[in-house]
Amino acid sequence: MATFNSSSTPKTLADALTPRQIVEELDKYIIGQADAKRSVAVALRNRARRQMLEDDMRDEVAPKNIIMIGTTGVGKTEIARRLARLVEAPFIKVEASKYTEIGYVGRDVESMIRDLADLAVNMVKSEQAEIVKEKALELTEERLLDFLIPPPRSTIGPESVEKNVEIADKDEGELSGEERLALAVQQFDPTERSEISEQEQERYQRTREKFRQRLRDGKLEDKPIEINVSNRTIPFVEIFSPSGIEEMDINLKDMFGSILPKQEKKRRVPISEARQILAQEEAEKLIDMDNVISEAIMRVENSGIVFLDEIDKIAGRESKSGPDVSREGVQRDILPIIEGSTVMTKHGMVRTDHILFIASGAFHVSKPSDLIPELQGRFPIRVELKSLNEADFKRILTEPKNALEKQYIAMLKTEGLNVTITDDAIDQIAALAFQVNESVEDIGARRLHTIMEKLFDELSFNAPDLDETSITINADYVTEQLSEIVKDEDISRYIL
Ligand SMILES: Nc1ncnc2c1ncn2[C@@H]1O[C@H](COP(=O)(O)OP(=O)(O)OP(=O)(O)O)[C@@H](O)[C@H]1O
Ligand SMILES: [Mg+2]
Repeated sequence: MATFNSSSTPKTLADALTPRQIVEELDKYIIGQADAKRSVAVALRNRARRQMLEDDMRDEVAPKNIIMIGTTGVGKTEIARRLARLVEAPFIKVEASKYTEIGYVGRDVESMIRDLADLAVNMVKSEQAEIVKEKALELTEERLLDFLIPPPRSTIGPESVEKNVEIADKDEGELSGEERLALAVQQFDPTERSEISEQEQERYQRTREKFRQRLRDGKLEDKPIEINVSNRTIPFVEIFSPSGIEEMDINLKDMFGSILPKQEKKRRVPISEARQILAQEEAEKLIDMDNVISEAIMRVENSGIVFLDEIDKIAGRESKSGPDVSREGVQRDILPIIEGSTVMTKHGMVRTDHILFIASGAFHVSKPSDLIPELQGRFPIRVELKSLNEADFKRILTEPKNALEKQYIAMLKTEGLNVTITDDAIDQIAALAFQVNESVEDIGARRLHTIMEKLFDELSFNAPDLDETSITINADYVTEQLSEIVKDEDISRYIL
């Protein structure tokens, strides 16, 4: 396994992001919540540290799973989402509430590990595809040229070779006059024959190079050519069973795909498209799937991260009636995966001992202490995310890379409208959002979305018809558009 040197798994600590760097990256998108950022950053760094340990020590270090606690809309899921893009580790985000006890309607919990394994395989595969890309494109060019100008076979091609063999097998007496002549030419003047073929070969090569140049210059992109596309015919069998075939994870397509003969199908496509199809085929031939799979499984086992969102929705213990029974059931189902067990995936066995779990939940009704004790013990780190205040809202509106202010400005710009939002307008929006959160319900930064949508309601509708090319949104405009609604609690309950 060690022979497979992948570019993206950090082999030394220096290759991995430091906690400080991780926090810096998260800061670009998420305002505040320093504690939570810090915890996930440390947890991530610990994965890299563990990789540096001696074998027997490495097995002993269990991941320090995290629970993020915070009311709705304060950035829990957002942290997970950004983290996923940041780390090159296999990362999956699942809603805990999606799982129900085995036997009930719903997905069984092991499917999260299977999904993670699929994801890792695709990830490693596309990394490999990137590595072999150049080679694949080279081979693709040759194949395109073969289709454009098939190699000559007249003189030294298989046909004439066969004929020659046939003639040579006969006795002198049996030969016809023509054959006698052919043999004579071949026997007494071999140089001439090969000269012709060499000449032709040369001419062919010249033409081929000319076409290669035109191909590279992009002059042939739209020219349609006929290519053979391998096309596995798959009998379309769908099996419907209560739990689906997911549980056994038998993939009929995969199974039959390798047994059935590959069928070639002719397709007529422009060169630009043909190149893509062929390059994909060539890349697949160059990639060693066994290596990909063992690397992927290694990554899942050692650096995989599962983000268990909405864990509070499965908190709640025995003795209660109805759905709670099932909730505890889900916790019991999840437990072995978090404690470390082996899950069968279609790529092979995956051990879950060192997968990092980050759980999150609002914990409005339930508390982390409502989780079954065994599960609580597997999440030693708890971080609380703070409620957002007016000052946070101001920053959230303007600072993140994808800040709402920037989004609305960019969207209206496509209509030829230059929007400027003044500072006091931002102050006003933040103040109103905070006010509504206080008076109606605290939905965190999500409130900004509803407020902004209402604020831009008219502009969004009218933008294409406006004569002006620029417009300034100031505090007065905000007040005009929103204050009536905000003042009336009943109305804002519905609109904001
Ligand atoms: N601290 C923050 N900084 C920047 N944006 C934020 C912050 N908190 C929330 N947001 C924005 O608010 C929206 C909702 O946030 P998110 O999905 O993270 O909420 P959550 O904490 O997961 O809530 P829930 O408990 O309801 O799932 C997102 O669009 C996110 O970008
Ligand atoms: Mg969420």
